[in-house]
Amino acid sequence: MKKRVFSGIQPTGNLHLGNYLGAIRRWVDAQSQYDNLFCIVDLHAITVPQDPRALRAKSREVVALLFAAGIEPDQSAVFIQSHIGAHAELAWILNCYIPMGWMQRMTQFKEKSQRQKGQVSVGLFDYPALMAADILLYETDLVPVGGDQKQHVELTRDVAQHFNSVYGDVFKLPEPLMGEVGARIMSLDNPTKKMSKSETGKGHALNLLDTPDEIRAKIMSATTDSLREIRFDPDRPAVTNLLTIYELFSGLSRTAIEQRFAGKGYAELKQELADVVIEHLKPLQARYRVLADDPSHLDHLLTEGASRVQPIAEKTVTRVKVAIGLG
Ligand code: TYM
Repeated sequence: MKKRVFSGIQPTGNLHLGNYLGAIRRWVDAQSQYDNLFCIVDLHAITVPQDPRALRAKSREVVALLFAAGIEPDQSAVFIQSHIGAHAELAWILNCYIPMGWMQRMTQFKEKSQRQKGQVSVGLFDYPALMAADILLYETDLVPVGGDQKQHVELTRDVAQHFNSVYGDVFKLPEPLMGEVGARIMSLDNPTKKMSKSETGKGHALNLLDTPDEIRAKIMSATTDSLREIRFDPDRPAVTNLLTIYELFSGLSRTAIEQRFAGKGYAELKQELADVVIEHLKPLQARYRVLADDPSHLDHLLTEGASRVQPIAEKTVTRVKVAIGLG
């Protein structure tokens, strides 16, 4: 039996290199080893205001991008969270077992609620309970995510352990799975901030659907420092971020990269980085255009994905209800 992988992605903003290098590419590269479920988490998206038409269109865009990036329908089920009612149902149940104090510690809530103009919804606060439901519904072994989601996966483990200690062996305990390199890709214009879908500044993120000209322009104007030597150094986050992206796309070792750029300037590093990023994204973008032009094929893949996962989710909800005395 293969281990089960579950991961999710929000259909909001533009997918960027952080999403790709921290999550999607790793899902693709490891998919033959595992039984994979990938979920477009539209119920998470509505924790902040969304335009209904844009949200539906974004969900399809993300699905097309996942397949364009190399997710294979015969190895991975891709589905939309709101198509499976059990996510909301289990989230409600878990709510009743999660102490407020655990939620109050979540750093992502603190950051997101500060950014939110106007009212902060209860849903935004409760976001991690829904994420725990996503993961626990499918008896997940491994959750491949970027570093920003680690705390949420740990909360999921805590909830599962707490629940199991009261009701017996109801949930499987999942493990977060993070890349040694690329778990936190930083912004191009401010290397102290992570690259994020919710930042809209033009030079902030490299998006998967950016044109070659946009990619080159953003990289050429990326922030650097006033030192000359090009090397990996945690005290120099801007150049280290550019080198990390180069490392992940070129496949070269850190030593080989430092040798390659010895005695060269930032302009050369940036030109070469733009070349590898553009080359890598070209086939993905071509496949994306073909997939996006065939919405009925995408809907067919989504229906197939949902019908594969639905029985697993229903079985878990039934087990939970029996355990706690519902019905
Ligand atoms: P989301 O949509 O923000 O991001 C999707 C994936 O991309 C990773 N990521 C990054 N990795 C490296 N560097 C970055 N700058 C960067 N930015 C984003 C994220 O860590 C994530 O793996 N809450 C989740 C979605 C979710 C989920 C789940 C994930 C809902 N339910 C269950 C796993 C399991 C989120 O908002 O991801």
